[in-house]
Amino acid sequence: MQVEDSREAEKQVRTQVAIIGAGPAGLLLGQLLSRAGIDNVILERRDRDYVLSRIRAGVLEQGMVDLLQEAGVSERLGREGLVHDGFSLAFHGVLHRIDLEELTGGRTVTVYGQTEVTRDLVEARQALGRPTIYEAQDVALHDIDSASPRVTFRKDGQLYELACDFIAGCDGYHGVSRASVPAAALHSFERVYPFGWLGVLVDRPPASHELVYAGHERGFALCSMRSAERSRYYIQVPQDERVEDWSDEAFFDELRARLPSETAAAVTPGPSIEKSIAPLRSFVAEPMRFGRLFLAGDAAHIVPPTGAKGLNLAASDIRYLFDALHQHYNEGSDAGLDGYSARALARVWKAERFSWWMTNLLHHFPERDGFDGRIQQAEFDYLKQSRAACTALAENYVGLPY
Ligand code: APR
Ligand code: PHB
Repeated sequence: MQVEDSREAEKQVRTQVAIIGAGPAGLLLGQLLSRAGIDNVILERRDRDYVLSRIRAGVLEQGMVDLLQEAGVSERLGREGLVHDGFSLAFHGVLHRIDLEELTGGRTVTVYGQTEVTRDLVEARQALGRPTIYEAQDVALHDIDSASPRVTFRKDGQLYELACDFIAGCDGYHGVSRASVPAAALHSFERVYPFGWLGVLVDRPPASHELVYAGHERGFALCSMRSAERSRYYIQVPQDERVEDWSDEAFFDELRARLPSETAAAVTPGPSIEKSIAPLRSFVAEPMRFGRLFLAGDAAHIVPPTGAKGLNLAASDIRYLFDALHQHYNEGSDAGLDGYSARALARVWKAERFSWWMTNLLHHFPERDGFDGRIQQAEFDYLKQSRAACTALAENYVGLPY
């Protein structure tokens, strides 16, 4: 980033790729571009501590593990990540294990918190000495449909104008990037679910060495983990639920009421170190490109967390976008950039389908009649008796090819 002559109103700065957002998508793109010698600046609205404190999901597809390896940020992941070769579904107290490794010919997932992925990427960027402008305010995109896009922002009261070749909108669902695309150029698709997930982080050993997804008439529950000493639990709650209405004791009582008895008996309650409610929605914005602006990650799509696809879709978007930018700068070809949106959306929609299917299979929809409950039971019974049904679930869970 060179600081050119400063005009009265604003400081002029320039880079090749302006990245909006220092979440997993923005940081991973920045890391890959920096290692390829492509200049980039990340503009982040929040401060560094906030970015590092966010608690999110924690299941990585092998494709994401491979990409983090390519980005040179997989050392701690290799040491601390937990490789899982299966997980269990539970339905009204009956457990059924999905043997991911056997059903997919050897493929697995890795349990490693998104918080840790973010920390590894932030520290790697710092080690490279690449610029991340934290607490960048009033970020605004300009001339995104021209050959000279610009981003203006305010930092410590000073107005800046960042000239660039491309803008990567990695600023999440509530970001400014998607909002900068003219409404007539964007087509959105959305499903909002009538419930949320109340999540608890607790420093107690997990109930099981593998994840347990439980469907129950009282509602969905999930037993996950961050390590052998730290557990992550979720229960489905009504859309308008307030986290302050849930004591730790009430949470663990409700969690155990929804689990098979052997799993419930293995839950070790403890004081929550984090407790929050996340809404559930399915969302896709098409196309994922407008002129020199490319959307990636949650800025372009949202999945309900039931399929553990949110972070993994951000990774596959970044795979495609990095390859396209690298091709532009190193081969002078824009084929990758021109094909980015269609290529990313093809994988996004398959993950949207899978996440929607897992959510419908495992959650209690209070407004639906008994027919829906029978369909859920039939789906679970079919999974218990059909290798083909389990294979379809397993190949989606480990991640479809990039
Ligand atoms: N200007 C600058 N930064 C912004 C702006 C803005 N106007 N709006 C949002 N941001 C920042 C947010 O503070 C956040 O740090 O953009 C970042 C977006 O990060 P994420 O929301 O984590 O999105 P993404 O990087 O795509 O990662 C997707 O994160 O939220 C989870 O479930 C999601 O696992 C998925 C993953
Ligand atoms: C988590 O550990 O936070 C987690 C795991 C699997 C999911 C969602 C969240 O599907």
